[in-house]
Amino acid sequence: MNTTTHSIGRTVAHESARAQIAGAAPYIDDLPELRGTLYAAPILSTVAHGKINEIHTAAALALHGVVAIVLASDVPGDPILAAFAGDEPVFARDTVQHIGQVIGLVVATDVMLARRAARLVKLDITPLPAILTVPDALASESYVLPPVTVARGDSDAALARAPHTLKGTLEVGGQEHFYLEGQIAYALPQEQNQWLIYSSSQHPGEVQHWVAHALGLDNHAVRVECRRLGGGFGGKETQAGHLAVWAAVAAAKVKRPVKLRLDRDDDFLITGKRHPFSYQYTVGFDDTGRLCGLQLMMAAHCGFSADLSGPVADRAIFHADNAYYLQDVAITSYRLKLHTQSHTAFRGFGGPQGMIVTETILGDIARQLGLDPLAVRLRNLYSDEPLNPAEPGLRRDTTHYGMQVEGNILQPLLSTLEQSSQYQKRIEAISAWNEQHQTLKRGIALTPVKFGISFTATLFNQAGALVHVYLDGSVQMNHGGVEMGQGLNTKVAQIVADELGVPLHKVLATASDTSKIPNASATAASAGTDLNGRAAQFAARHVRDNLAAFVGGLDGVGAGAVTFQGGQVFTPKTTRTFDAVVQLAYANRIQLWSDGFYRTPKIHYDKTTLSGRPFYYFAYGAACTEVALDTLTGENKVIRVDILHDVGRSINPGLDVGQIEGGFVQGMGWLTTEELVWNDKGLLTTHAPSTYKIPTAGDIPAHFKVDLWDAPNTEDNVGGSKAVGEPPFMLAISVFEALRDAVARARDDGAVVQLNAPATPEKLLKALTQVR
Ligand code: MTE
Ligand code: MOS
Repeated sequence: MNTTTHSIGRTVAHESARAQIAGAAPYIDDLPELRGTLYAAPILSTVAHGKINEIHTAAALALHGVVAIVLASDVPGDPILAAFAGDEPVFARDTVQHIGQVIGLVVATDVMLARRAARLVKLDITPLPAILTVPDALASESYVLPPVTVARGDSDAALARAPHTLKGTLEVGGQEHFYLEGQIAYALPQEQNQWLIYSSSQHPGEVQHWVAHALGLDNHAVRVECRRLGGGFGGKETQAGHLAVWAAVAAAKVKRPVKLRLDRDDDFLITGKRHPFSYQYTVGFDDTGRLCGLQLMMAAHCGFSADLSGPVADRAIFHADNAYYLQDVAITSYRLKLHTQSHTAFRGFGGPQGMIVTETILGDIARQLGLDPLAVRLRNLYSDEPLNPAEPGLRRDTTHYGMQVEGNILQPLLSTLEQSSQYQKRIEAISAWNEQHQTLKRGIALTPVKFGISFTATLFNQAGALVHVYLDGSVQMNHGGVEMGQGLNTKVAQIVADELGVPLHKVLATASDTSKIPNASATAASAGTDLNGRAAQFAARHVRDNLAAFVGGLDGVGAGAVTFQGGQVFTPKTTRTFDAVVQLAYANRIQLWSDGFYRTPKIHYDKTTLSGRPFYYFAYGAACTEVALDTLTGENKVIRVDILHDVGRSINPGLDVGQIEGGFVQGMGWLTTEELVWNDKGLLTTHAPSTYKIPTAGDIPAHFKVDLWDAPNTEDNVGGSKAVGEPPFMLAISVFEALRDAVARARDDGAVVQLNAPATPEKLLKALTQVR
């Protein structure tokens, strides 16, 4: 078989790459505007918690060009947002719950005017006691959802008999999504109270539902379209829906199209971030660094409402093991309500917050015992080693939530990276280098990732697609997923092209549209290609089966003897072009389009006990990172990164490497420079690039090598591939661990390194100098 005619497995450019570079790929703010379009700006709470007495709108309304002010009383349908917990109003009504909560909108003929007018709205709010810190929230049992405990074995007994124990705490900050395209929605009234909404959303189906609910309409009256996002990263999974609802409510009031685009400062103030986490733990271990007993408390700072905090905190529990077997473990997870923005999905979805605490614990254990941290990590990996000689049936291969770790490649993957990154040699080189340098100190860490793929809410693991073949043999493909830069449309097009045996350029992807694929899940949990790629493959297969039966009939052979490749259709008797077959089939009234539907097999889990098989499979990876730390200033630089990551059989290696690099760098930002600071009034003081530092080109390590692990997925997944969107984010934990290694080497006192994330220069300086 001539594989060059195949699309799967090849690096082909992102379907929008050229248009994006040329500025010819429109985002929602670039779309031609309908005549009469008005612009909205939000009116924001200036108090973290308070009772709204009065909203003075006269000064704003007096400005020439201000058309309306839209408040909670203007919502035609339910004033409570259709979010699953039902704990958020569309617009704040009687009370406000964070600084930046949206009370209403100003609608005007010009966006700058609307923003100016919004500041003229005077709010009379009586402050109420606000909960602004995690200790306060814990002490007052302020929860958005009840606490959850997952336990296995007897952690009390295990800790009592452990040769060594260690107690500790860790704080890990949140993260702003900083999508380059800010949040935006454009609501267009259509005939007979029907609506078209352009929404920069990862979940158009939910936007449709929320808008219909707020307008008091059936879902069928609302169509939501989204061609692409300028990044979502989880920040547009639920929270894009708020903007769509706000814009639609405003448009319903003024009976004209309304566009709502947040400016960056408002976006920071209004929308939720990655959940900050606080941890307390007691861990037991033996002389070899093997864990024996862990009690872990994780507190998630959720903000004022539940949003996705339940599943995010659950995923943190599911990933507290990372790559390691935990016996005799008890994890308690608090979902704390604070009077801040409502924190939400962010790449990894709680996974990073689950893994980081265990990685820091292992690092500390190694330093405590004077062992190499990698040796301690390897010692604790999942494996098929028996749990104890007495019970040979029980192996160190089952997670604390009862899922067997199948297709485990951790051991060979880590050894391969250990060799290829020359880890052992560099440890010695680093020690020698540090001897020679008084001020600068280097550190290194090699850390693994094991990340579960599937939505933990089993019902979301379904997808639909449409494949249309036109008379010239060209193909239009549509699915329920959203293109946010990750290359989903490119991969799905590659899959469809191979299924029909046509060149890739024949397949065109179109915008996500709720009128094409109904009830689509969010594009999230890294499962975009797994779900939509398979659905589209099935849709294409149905068309191909129709054509095969037809051509087989023409040549008097079975449909199974007909093959499709390179734009041609082969039978044992003839060869025809795909285009000719399509025309012949049409003339014979054969259906040339189809739908496809996929649901992930094997998964199930009990929501009340958090046990079962929530994930179809695991994606694995590891990173070895070296840093240099200035011990006088705390400044630091990532100087070398070697990554070995498992994407199964890659559908598009170029795109996959891009996701790995991007995910790693975003994770590096989370753990080093991206710091969110709320002041004692609850105001987020880090509100724009001026005060919030994301990584830039200059922060990219000079040596940044990414290799793909070369083996197909052991589960039957599309093309033998594995999901890649989120797992590489957590490879950046190696940066944090390398910095802690550098601090330990600089101090050289064998003490546990007390360092919270993000490891800003200030925090590093403190860790370097703290007296214990
Ligand atoms: N890559 C880009 N360029 N832009 C994004 O917004 N989001 C990430 C990841 N990679 C994102 C991205 C997140 S949070 C997820 S869940 C996945 O992409 C979603 O897409 P997928 O399921 O198709 O991988
Ligand atoms: Mo990604 S956090 O699942 O949108």
